[in-house]
Amino acid sequence: MTRRKLIAGNWKMNGHLDHLRELDEIANAAEAHPDVDVAICPPATLIAPAVQRVPGLTIGAQDCHAEDRGAHTGCLAAPMLAEAGAKCTIVGHSERRADQGETDADVRGKAEAAHRHALTAIICVGETEEQRDAGEAESVVTGQVEGSLPPDATAANTVIAYEPVWAIGTGRIPTMDDVAAMHAAIRAKLSELVAGEADGIRILYGGSMNGDNAGELLAVDHVDGGLVGGASLSADKFVPIIEAAGFLYGRR
Ligand code: 13P
Repeated sequence: MTRRKLIAGNWKMNGHLDHLRELDEIANAAEAHPDVDVAICPPATLIAPAVQRVPGLTIGAQDCHAEDRGAHTGCLAAPMLAEAGAKCTIVGHSERRADQGETDADVRGKAEAAHRHALTAIICVGETEEQRDAGEAESVVTGQVEGSLPPDATAANTVIAYEPVWAIGTGRIPTMDDVAAMHAAIRAKLSELVAGEADGIRILYGGSMNGDNAGELLAVDHVDGGLVGGASLSADKFVPIIEAAGFLYGRR
């Protein structure tokens, strides 16, 4: 099974209108590497202007509510994000699991809402440093996959992002053996949960991915792309990651 690499940028709570200029070069790089899927998830206020500026680039959101409308001040519903032009949304990022106390069940509800409105759900999972040190990393992460994955998940509507919490924004990454073991464990869990689709669902690695380590990370079995934070904020840092994915495609 050949899975297309997906390089997705998560701008988190960064960027104003003037920052959208970074997208021009990112869109050019995406066009130059048609075998790589590229997406940027800016703050929700920038989704519509981003789509307008670079219509050819996939733009996504960083979260959505589980319901389609209602009395939830400050929240954004999946159909609103779809209307703004989003094609995908991150759900269950560890920063939201920590800051907003989101549970696996919450995350599954959000992924289901995304699916109802034709948004690909990028479901984030990942262990803390304490959990890894206690030897619980695989059980924690596969448990999160089990609890967060909607039963209707398909290769087209769902992506998993494995982001070790201790690797996010720290410059530290797991060993390639640890990455390989975790991605294989996630694939095995997907086979249990959604047998027919498991082979096609992409599993991204996230956590301090950059132009220097992307080639090595993306070459690991079952690493089907990256979810990139800091290095997605500038074209100078993000484009080399797209190129690393494109290079791997060229070698296949
Ligand atoms: P960094 O690439 O900044 O470590 O962030 C990863 C991340 O959290 C992407 O969602």
